[in-house]
Amino acid sequence: MKHSRGGTVTSEGTRAIHAGHPPVRPGGPFTDGPVFASTFHMSGDPDGPYQYGRFANPTWTALETALADLEGAAAAVSFGSGMAAVSGALLALAQPGHTIVLPADGYPATRTVGTHLADRGVTVRHVRTDTAALAAAVPDADLVWLETPSNPGLDVCDIPAIAELAHRHGALVAVDNTLATPLGQLPLALGADLSVASGTKALTGHSDVLLGYVASADPALGDRIRAWRTMTGGIPGPMEAWLAHRSLATLHLRVDRQTQNATALAELLSAHPGVADVRYPGLPGDPAHVLATRQMRRPGCIVVFTLPDADTAQRFLAALDLVAEATSFGGVHSIAERRGRWPGDDIPAGFVRFSAGCEDTPDLLADVTQALDKALG
Ligand SMILES: Cc1ncc(COP(=O)(O)O)c(C=O)c1O
Repeated sequence: MKHSRGGTVTSEGTRAIHAGHPPVRPGGPFTDGPVFASTFHMSGDPDGPYQYGRFANPTWTALETALADLEGAAAAVSFGSGMAAVSGALLALAQPGHTIVLPADGYPATRTVGTHLADRGVTVRHVRTDTAALAAAVPDADLVWLETPSNPGLDVCDIPAIAELAHRHGALVAVDNTLATPLGQLPLALGADLSVASGTKALTGHSDVLLGYVASADPALGDRIRAWRTMTGGIPGPMEAWLAHRSLATLHLRVDRQTQNATALAELLSAHPGVADVRYPGLPGDPAHVLATRQMRRPGCIVVFTLPDADTAQRFLAALDLVAEATSFGGVHSIAERRGRWPGDDIPAGFVRFSAGCEDTPDLLADVTQALDKALG
């Protein structure tokens, strides 16, 4: 990449700092401010990149340039939330008569979009995040939607193998890259056609923004999804787009610290006699570890584990001091929740999803240790 400050930059952290920003100019800021505009002055026939606020905005352009750079994409299209991006991609691409494969064990709202598609003549097959099971479903499919690692089970499937098979059968492959972020995994470089994500999570990382995006390897596919967004209006606000872009500059620092904390936490939990079924793709011995090591550069911030029952899990969550009980993941603050409080996931009652934040590791481990002591007695 020829970055805005001059010179060729290939390392991802440096790129995350500079991506999408204009070259520095005398007296100029390092980051242009958000452009708040519902319309732009334009004479005569429609002309120029900025015409009306639902079509395009300079703050989105800067963010989308950065996201395309980090995802290695021809085009990135930002949306007002992860679900706006997921539904935008699915609705723009799935036609009546098509067959699509959706994760049986992924984020439940994606399956809910699938039920709407099924009502409109799309055949929807739910397949768990397992390479062999997915490979068996690929030959009939027009679009294969992967979520790897899956939320919340943290299973991993082989993106290059599925993409190669899907392309041989004329199918498109989309990967929900929410958990990994482009610094953890590059779906397009691994062969996928689309990388779709909620930017609400680790990408922006401060629990103050809802955002989503679709990054496409093919400019024409990107144009289709952009046209869908223009028509349906699932756009981000300029302030959210600006906050998201500003957050990218610390993405590598945050995901590195989260990985360090998640790894330490997974090790602590695995050694604890009262905790069962600890899953973290970064942990040697985890069923996803070998594949994750092959296709991911960072295994992410989520660790999941099971306490004996729902009451014990709630006692654990209540006893945490530093870590707040909250849904979502990927922020600088560590949070955790008993996932079974929501419908939609096939998990035990005592299943806890823990999102490791950026606190100092000893503080985090001390808090979890004292809360386990209190919960398990
Ligand atoms: C894997 C995954 N995809 C998509 C979404 C939806 O994102 P948002 O809440 O930004 O709409 C989520 C939300 O948790 C998610 O975990």
